[in-house]
Amino acid sequence: MRNKYAILIICIVVLVIIEKENSIISRVSDKLTLRQTPQTPQTMAEFTVSAPIVLEDNGSVSPTLPYPDIAAVASPPDDRGVLMNTTQGGGTSSTSTSTSTTSSGNGTVGVATAAAGGRKHILLVASTRTGSSFVGELFNQQGATMFYLFEPLWHVERQLTLDTGVINASAASWSYRDVLRQLFLCDFRMLESFINPPPLEHVTAALFRRESSMALCEEEVCSPVVKEVFERYRCRTRRCGPLNLTLAAAACRAKQHVTIKTVRVRQLETMRPLTEDPRLDTRFIQLVRDPRAILASRMVAFSSKYQTWKTWGEVNGGEVPIEDEEVKKLQGNCNQIKTSAELGLSGPEWLRGRYMLVRYEDIARYPMQKAAQMFAFTGIPFTPQAREWILQNTHATAEEVHGVYSTQKNSSEQVEKWRFSIPFKLAQVVQQVCGPTMQLFGYKFVNSEQTLLNKSVSLLEEREFNVS
Ligand SMILES: *[C@@H]1O[C@H](CO)[C@@H](O)[C@H](O)[C@H]1NC(C)=O
Ligand SMILES: *[C@@H]1O[C@H](CO)[C@@H](O)[C@H](O)[C@H]1NC(C)=O
Ligand SMILES: *[C@@H]1O[C@H](CO)[C@@H](O)[C@H](O)[C@H]1NC(C)=O
Ligand SMILES: *[C@@H]1O[C@H](CO)[C@@H](O)[C@H](O)[C@H]1NC(C)=O
Ligand SMILES: *[C@@H]1O[C@H](CO)[C@@H](O)[C@H](O)[C@H]1NC(C)=O
Ligand SMILES: *[C@@H]1O[C@H](CO)[C@@H](O)[C@H](O)[C@H]1NC(C)=O
Repeated sequence: MRNKYAILIICIVVLVIIEKENSIISRVSDKLTLRQTPQTPQTMAEFTVSAPIVLEDNGSVSPTLPYPDIAAVASPPDDRGVLMNTTQGGGTSSTSTSTSTTSSGNGTVGVATAAAGGRKHILLVASTRTGSSFVGELFNQQGATMFYLFEPLWHVERQLTLDTGVINASAASWSYRDVLRQLFLCDFRMLESFINPPPLEHVTAALFRRESSMALCEEEVCSPVVKEVFERYRCRTRRCGPLNLTLAAAACRAKQHVTIKTVRVRQLETMRPLTEDPRLDTRFIQLVRDPRAILASRMVAFSSKYQTWKTWGEVNGGEVPIEDEEVKKLQGNCNQIKTSAELGLSGPEWLRGRYMLVRYEDIARYPMQKAAQMFAFTGIPFTPQAREWILQNTHATAEEVHGVYSTQKNSSEQVEKWRFSIPFKLAQVVQQVCGPTMQLFGYKFVNSEQTLLNKSVSLLEEREFNVS
């Protein structure tokens, strides 16, 4: 009798130990993956000489989604909106959509009918440290209706830089456009050809940041984990085996809308064919931020890559060799962002009703209001879940959202934190090479260190961006 009990207990103990070990190994390998994946885009960026936009997107968003920079306070959702005149967010957005479609004349009649199902294709165009992960996540949170992809062009860029280390920007932009078009159409085949190692029978374990997409981690897309010691968690919500892209495509088709976030599209112009494809109803949201703040933020986040800037800031009293390659790169970034924004704001026929410019600073200060405007613009209902998610991931409290007290001052402090981390000389350099871009977006110049550090001087103009 005793023996039987003892054996039973030993069996249970052994089972428990095995299970524990399994999960420890999984966790460890998970950590390793987290460490490894983010490195690659940075390394790659080192080589992309001819591509001026700084490419690091180290994917630092943790599963608990802390968005420290967007940790500002929301303003009342019923605030007067400043953008598109389609303020009253939420589900009442269809008016703006239909207006935009019909107003674009005969050329877009085809689009209107093709999009009769109301299927929207949203491209979030950003550069790093502009809050694009936050906005992407906001759309991802529409889970039930949204198929969201986080930076699929990562694979394309990596593949294109593999041979030479240098990317041919115009050739790359065609690949980007074609891959995006196919992904919007729920077709993964072209992306597959860029995934390394190549998927076997349309199954891959290597899709960049798969776990960032709720749709790719749903039960139906989650193939069972093969019993293997080093099998790792590939999703936050459940343990999934390698991704079967056939299932991913089916999941995409089953969702009502598609959103793709990218920091790799340099020129809006190159995406024009997406707006002319009768199968698509494409909307672009361009996210921008004060380039001085971006530099300050990148110097912290990607410190090894920005060592040159840090050295300039620390020695020589911040003297910067203005002819340096790094400075030229910054200037190139700023000019490209400006060119795209000017194009979007000038409202050419092909972009009419399809372009929205959003400043990071406005999202940080008024997350709820800005989210409502973005959803209104896209014509996608702003769900209670997404509202709830904003409440949980910004410092907005229910009281603040209901406008009990003004939070403006607090929030601008949050948004302008960078002013105390960037040496004045560096801020000056940014102003010098990014001046026109800053003016376009309403970022004020400082002409002395005192002003930079003076909290009562706002460096942000209240600005409406109306597409003409
Ligand atoms: C609009 O364009 C289509 C073909 O693209 C043409 O058949 C139709 O007649 C045009 N309608 C008007 C009002 O011009
Ligand atoms: C980039 O690619 C295009 C098309 O493949 C080619 O015509 C062009 O010469 C290339 N540019 C460079 C600098 O290699
Ligand atoms: C991927 O999913 C499809 C659709 O369910 C299935 O037919 C196919 O066999 C799967 N591929 C593999 C390698 O399991
Ligand atoms: C990624 O960036 C974050 C800051 O956003 C930083 O804290 C983190 O160390 C970076 N991770 C890697 C692997 O470089
Ligand atoms: C900032 O907000 C906090 C609560 O979020 C509040 O306690 C504090 O008084 C505010 N500070 C200012 C300067 O408004
Ligand atoms: C900060 O700016 C305000 C408003 O321009 C000015 O009145 C104040 O004297 C400045 N403070 C310092 C320390 O320069």
